[in-house]
Amino acid sequence: MGWSCVVARAVALFLMLSRASALTSDIFAAGKSDKEILDNLLKNSRYDKRLLPPVDGVLTVNVSVLLLSLASPDESSLKYEVEFLLQQQWYDPRLRYSNQSHYDFLNAIHHHEDIWLPDTYFIMHGDFKDPIIPMHFALRIYRNGTINYLMRRHLILSCQGRLNIFPFDDPLCSFALESISYEQSAITYVWKNDEDTLRKSPSLTTLNAYLIQNQTIPCPIKASWRGNYSCLKVDLIFTRDRSFYFTTVFIPGIILVTSSFITFWLEWNAVPARVMIGVTTMLNFFTTSNGFRSTLPVVSNLTAMNVWDGVCMCFIYASLLEFVCVNYVGRKRPLHNVVYRPGENPVTQGDKKRESTGAAELVSCTACTGPGACTHTANNGGVAEVRKKEPPHPIRVAKTIDVIARITFPTAYAVFLIFFFIHYKAFS
Ligand SMILES: *[C@@H]1O[C@H](CO)[C@@H](O)[C@H](O)[C@H]1NC(C)=O
Ligand SMILES: *[C@@H]1O[C@H](CO)[C@@H](O)[C@H](O)[C@H]1NC(C)=O
Ligand SMILES: *[C@@H]1O[C@H](CO)[C@@H](O)[C@H](O)[C@H]1NC(C)=O
Ligand SMILES: *[C@@H]1O[C@H](CO)[C@@H](O)[C@H](O)[C@H]1NC(C)=O
Ligand SMILES: *[C@@H]1O[C@H](CO)[C@@H](O)[C@H](O)[C@H]1NC(C)=O
Repeated sequence: MGWSCVVARAVALFLMLSRASALTSDIFAAGKSDKEILDNLLKNSRYDKRLLPPVDGVLTVNVSVLLLSLASPDESSLKYEVEFLLQQQWYDPRLRYSNQSHYDFLNAIHHHEDIWLPDTYFIMHGDFKDPIIPMHFALRIYRNGTINYLMRRHLILSCQGRLNIFPFDDPLCSFALESISYEQSAITYVWKNDEDTLRKSPSLTTLNAYLIQNQTIPCPIKASWRGNYSCLKVDLIFTRDRSFYFTTVFIPGIILVTSSFITFWLEWNAVPARVMIGVTTMLNFFTTSNGFRSTLPVVSNLTAMNVWDGVCMCFIYASLLEFVCVNYVGRKRPLHNVVYRPGENPVTQGDKKRESTGAAELVSCTACTGPGACTHTANNGGVAEVRKKEPPHPIRVAKTIDVIARITFPTAYAVFLIFFFIHYKAFS
């Protein structure tokens, strides 16, 4: 009796199992449509989307990114819009279907709600450009149980630039992906493979965004918000269009500053011309610089721009002040009735001997009542000594100041330009 019972149960079990196996092979048979296969795959009794895919060990999600467009609202912004397709791939053995089927993959886009999906979210500073729902996505189930989940995302990232060297900085934009509810021991995200993890779409469109470098890495510990979650990080390094800043800021600045140097080549007493040059260049520089600054982010540490504006302003202002000095000195009454002789500019004559001769002539002139009564006592050592004590004629001083300025101002400005552009690596 015991035996027959056992045998009966075994037969019943065998029948059940064979029926079940017949059923599984049946529902994915060659003739079945994808709709039927999907319905059968995702049947409630068979598939529970609340459970993680039953894999040995940790579920690995392979991730890759395809960049579709990069944009920045304007040249000096630190906001970058990044549009990309995020591809996630994982293996769910419950969703294998027989290789007898003629479908390489099933399009499960309408079963989005019925399939277990990784709960990936973005760690970033910024915003989503589009509302999160409706998403643009693709969902494919391959016959070996691999699931390919593609979604389009459009992020507005607030990037980090080193504004102290603006506009020669290279803003770094980064965002990271992490699962919101599964710890590292349940889900691990890995970059798909090293070569084409981050690809550019062939029709990548860019606007004011110049991607120079990229990096796809697992999150460094401190970048991940919660230590125990698997996390992947994308770093995009952009650069700014140097030629834009040269044409809008630096070259106009250089032109204005060097225009203010024209004043040194005019007569010391050309008041209207020299004042006009000084004031016009200064006002123009203020206007240009303010106009440009109104487009910049309002931050305090724009060191490079402050240095540039400050030094240029100083040069323009100094050349205006130089004129004031020259004019003031030139209008001073000469101390000893020295007669100014225009031909004897001490700086234009390089010859030391002629210089002392000219000076001696002047000195001897002061001693006499009129130029006609003068006896020329050139090459007299005693007279040369007297000359040293005598102050030069004010007009000559004024002209000398101008001549010195002609050399020192452009030289100093050139030195500044060289140091400025080298220090901030403007041409790197
Ligand atoms: C993920 O990538 C690894 C190698 O990078 C590969 O062995 C594995 O099959 C991939 N998994 C899926 C589901 O594609
Ligand atoms: C189907 O898969 C089995 C192993 O699971 C393999 O032996 C067989 O060759 C495959 N058939 C086809 C048509 O790929
Ligand atoms: C499953 O099939 C897809 C597409 O045919 C393939 O890319 C993937 O590597 C396969 N995965 C495994 C684990 O065999
Ligand atoms: C990302 O960088 C790698 C090498 O660092 C390069 O091969 C790849 O083309 C870059 N991708 C993009 C989208 O620039
Ligand atoms: C993270 O993992 C460590 C051990 O690796 C554990 O002590 C800690 O409680 C975990 N933290 C959370 C939030 O689960």
